[in-house]
Amino acid sequence: MVERKKWSSSILFIMACVGSAVGLGNIWKFPYITYENGGGTFVLVYLLAVLIIGMPILLAEMLIGRNSERNAYDAIVKLSNQNRWWKLVGALCLFTGFGILSFYSVVAGWTVDYFINALLGNLSHLDFTTTGQHFGSFVSNPGKQILYHTIFMAMTSLIVWRGTKGIEKAIEVLMPVLGVLIVVVMSVTVSKYGAGDTLNFLFDIDLSKITAHAILEAMGHAFFTLSVGMGTMIVYGSYFPKKNSLLKATLWIGVLDTIFALMACLMIYPIIFGTKMEVRESASILFTTLSVELQHLPFGNYICAVFYLLIAFAALSSTISLLEPVTAFFIENRNMSRAKATLVSGGSIWFLGVFCALSNGGSEFISKLKIMDHLDYITSNWTLPLGGILLAIFCAYVISNDEKARELNVSKDSMLFKSWNFLLKIVAPTLVLIVMIYRIFNS
Ligand code: PHE
Repeated sequence: MVERKKWSSSILFIMACVGSAVGLGNIWKFPYITYENGGGTFVLVYLLAVLIIGMPILLAEMLIGRNSERNAYDAIVKLSNQNRWWKLVGALCLFTGFGILSFYSVVAGWTVDYFINALLGNLSHLDFTTTGQHFGSFVSNPGKQILYHTIFMAMTSLIVWRGTKGIEKAIEVLMPVLGVLIVVVMSVTVSKYGAGDTLNFLFDIDLSKITAHAILEAMGHAFFTLSVGMGTMIVYGSYFPKKNSLLKATLWIGVLDTIFALMACLMIYPIIFGTKMEVRESASILFTTLSVELQHLPFGNYICAVFYLLIAFAALSSTISLLEPVTAFFIENRNMSRAKATLVSGGSIWFLGVFCALSNGGSEFISKLKIMDHLDYITSNWTLPLGGILLAIFCAYVISNDEKARELNVSKDSMLFKSWNFLLKIVAPTLVLIVMIYRIFNS
């Protein structure tokens, strides 16, 4: 077997994982679910979920990858000695990645259109009454929807086609620029409207306000935001050299992902609180009301363009990580060349994505089937958490403690190792199971 390509440094590996983790989930979803669930109390629950469920499973996935040096499917097959039940978990991971990328790329494509139009000044005539219509007619325009989805999948595939080298090159540009752009927009919004209300909201902790719904939402989001539950981190971990520390990497990824999510709030909330914006449809606010308010800031057009550009960058570093696991499967399991594997995986996900692109009004028939909503619902609420618990259980019970301790370079009697193993064995699976049962009875 040819030697597997590895990341060139620990920093690039961490940057690639942070790139995967920081995406639409941080900049779009986190601010709106935090807003809907009342601020500080939700943030606290979310932090706990990241700490006791997200990060332990993240570490487990990276360990499975590095130990087996395979893509998610073959890693599980190899480490379970070809057990056919475990193979199903590998297949589940592939399905989830496939499904998420097909609709994620459509939404990511929207940011490209908004970026271009903001830059050209084409959004400046919109006001609060027309912005919703503009968004509605955009998402129901079949040509535009397919075009931007295609652009996004093409960019993703071109990067993945070059393998770890291509991903590293892209990440080296995307992540630092993303960091700078967020700070720029954040400084503009904070200097215009102040950060007082935002900070009060984010730190307003009132334990009596915790609801079951908020806990479930926080747990679900912990999976999505850390990119765990579908094998991305198995594949990324499989390219990580043995000498580097997985524990440190996990810590960095968890901390940086959270910082990006909080910065997104600091970028968006000052506008919401400062303008006393009436938030109705919080999910689509990013493409409606916010685009109008951003135009009112100093250098409005440009700030608005920068805002959508940074979301596009965050999304691209995540779509790469959604395509790589499927591509690696075709390379390692089906013996395809990387070029062919990228074409097959990128092409088939693009095809499914076309249905998502047409499901917001672009085609009457497809919109009735609500393909995009269903795919989002099934993957984010079901297969991702299910994949997550099963991978936690896999790492906890199938891989021996000796092997795990050796991989982590810690003693298996240390507190750290024991607590992690306990979280994987009992705590994370139980909590996730509760979430899923609750969802069954509440849907
Ligand atoms: N973590 C990404 C986000 O927050 C989404 C993602 C999920 C990426 C699963 C890869 C794998 O947007």
